[in-house]
Amino acid sequence: MSDSPNPLPFESFMNPGLGKYARVYRESIDNPEKFYSDAGWILDWYSKWDSIIDKSGEPYYRWYVNGKLNLSYNAVDRHANGIRRNKAAYIWVDEKGNEKIVTYRGLYKRVNALAKALLEMGIRKGDRIAIYLPMIIEEPVAMLAAARIGAVFTVIFSGFGAEAIADRVNDCGAKLMITADGGFRRGKIIPLKETVDRALELTKTVESVIVVKHTGNEINMTEGRDYWYHDIIREKDYVEPERMDSNDPLFILYTSGTTGKPKGVVHGNGGYGVWVTNTLKWAFDPQESDRWWCAADIGWITGHSYIVFAPLILGLTSILYEGSFDYPTPDQIWKIISYYEVDILYTSPTAIRALMKYGDEYPKNHNLSSLRVLGSVGEPINPVAWEWYYEKIGNSQCPVIDTYWQTETGGFVISPAIGIGVAPLKPGSATLPLPGIEPVIIDQSGKEAENGEKGFLFLKRPWPGLMIGLNKDDQKYRSLYFGKMSNAYFTGDYAVKDKDGYFWLLGRADEVLKVSGHRIGTIEVEDALLSTGLVAEAGVFGKTHQVKGESIVSFLVLGSGTSLDSAVDTIKNGIRRNFGSLLVPDEIHIVGSLPKTRSGKIMRRIIKAVYQDQIPGDVTTLESEASVEEIKEAIDKFKKELKASGNSRQRSQ
Ligand code: PRX
Repeated sequence: MSDSPNPLPFESFMNPGLGKYARVYRESIDNPEKFYSDAGWILDWYSKWDSIIDKSGEPYYRWYVNGKLNLSYNAVDRHANGIRRNKAAYIWVDEKGNEKIVTYRGLYKRVNALAKALLEMGIRKGDRIAIYLPMIIEEPVAMLAAARIGAVFTVIFSGFGAEAIADRVNDCGAKLMITADGGFRRGKIIPLKETVDRALELTKTVESVIVVKHTGNEINMTEGRDYWYHDIIREKDYVEPERMDSNDPLFILYTSGTTGKPKGVVHGNGGYGVWVTNTLKWAFDPQESDRWWCAADIGWITGHSYIVFAPLILGLTSILYEGSFDYPTPDQIWKIISYYEVDILYTSPTAIRALMKYGDEYPKNHNLSSLRVLGSVGEPINPVAWEWYYEKIGNSQCPVIDTYWQTETGGFVISPAIGIGVAPLKPGSATLPLPGIEPVIIDQSGKEAENGEKGFLFLKRPWPGLMIGLNKDDQKYRSLYFGKMSNAYFTGDYAVKDKDGYFWLLGRADEVLKVSGHRIGTIEVEDALLSTGLVAEAGVFGKTHQVKGESIVSFLVLGSGTSLDSAVDTIKNGIRRNFGSLLVPDEIHIVGSLPKTRSGKIMRRIIKAVYQDQIPGDVTTLESEASVEEIKEAIDKFKKELKASGNSRQRSQ
């Protein structure tokens, strides 16, 4: 964090200035009933709520109690039957420059057709379905078709492997899977259906699979289970949207935490819909004729909230891109922005840093003057990347909206809010809380931290976007998020508040890594390593990485019988195949033994400290479960071990 950089002169486009933000924020805190009632009318409801919030089940909160609505109706029908019927909902583009434009009317037809097919395949309100698709139009269509009939969907990121899919399907009990023959990435076909076939061998609940023909590669179709998408949809079908209760579940999205298995974060219909739609307006102030590009993957919360629900509910036109930013050439992203005259670009610090490395000439060669607002998400953005983004991409004319939020928060919680006029920006700070959000920083001793003092970030009062629970895990919901401070939500992040009340996010305070903005649990990686059958013990931690934010470092003890020669490649291939490339460690170090406590717990922090030559004088801070003697012994032994095995920081694989 740069201590107190001068606020930039953004007031000119901050219409109508900080005054309005302060007023709106104050109202949200002083009179939440009125504030959230007004906010709720951003959606159409079949019947109005009885009350704004029910706190009787704390820490579970029910929003817009007994209100009835359908988010597919809100996202599609009200535009498709009105003045936006011919407006583009999505401009889909791929790496080769192919383009497909889907209007709101076209989206409506597609959603209805698939919803009808799902009903005909026996899917009903409350059933779970899994979606494993590349970034193609059918992905939002599948989510909206499920939402239309009240089926709870879980989107599985298309980079995950068979075991990761099976874990998610088994946890939520999905009855149906929607996938494609394949997806394109960097000129290659990713064989999605083949991965699904392997995943389904590990699951029992999936009865049918719908397959979109996208790449045209050869695949196996299992008679009686697998159906081509184009064979089961009829263009003229219409399905009356299900009247969903505001607090019925809409989707489950799995995210990494401090334990091995990802947690199923459940979001509802009403509160979630209200929150994502309002926050997009507050933070980015999108306009009717804008082309909005949220360049995330739909498989993550960013895509759910800000490629699918919020922009569609607002009737915006989104770019939907299947491919990499720097393929086939390093300026692919700038080509798209220039050709499609994108007004708002929303991407991650990792992407910004990677593009920055290619050099300024790539953006310079394209006309980026259509850009009005820039956004960042997923990890802290360092001031150098912020400034490059602001100067070289935004031509020092576009505010950088650094949105801080999480899968669990549903939508943005701390972010500049040009829609309601916010204070000057500071490079690297997510700035101020959005209306309704009351952040507080707590120090080690449980007291509120002083300004400038690093601590744990909590959000003190509930807001409509907060998840409605964790799938089948009441205990974890209570202990992880609400167990540390009574009725305050724990984010798991470190933060500091400066003297102007600005928040600076400082990374995770738990065993969670942020690798290229992806959320990965160290224990999840250790489990993946162990599951290859080649590894006896594993210790995993994160290390600062210039582009990716963090990279994964692992220290392994091989199982007896594993040959050292091919071990690293075999382990990497095994993880890639079963879990996906995300979980493959960047560095694998093989050692003979790892430091452990008497109770057998691997001392991850000691491994990290020794590896980084950073043993603090007071070693008691390193482990909670071991004595000082034990820790000193472990450090000495591990240092010798590293020397003997020839591992050093330079020799990473
Ligand atoms: O550590 C914070 C970081 O990403 C975590 C949430 O990850 P996930 O649930 O995958 O959602 C990512 C997309 C919202 C947070 O706990 N994070 C997210 N946005 C920011 C951030 N850290 C700093 N600044 C941000 N803008």
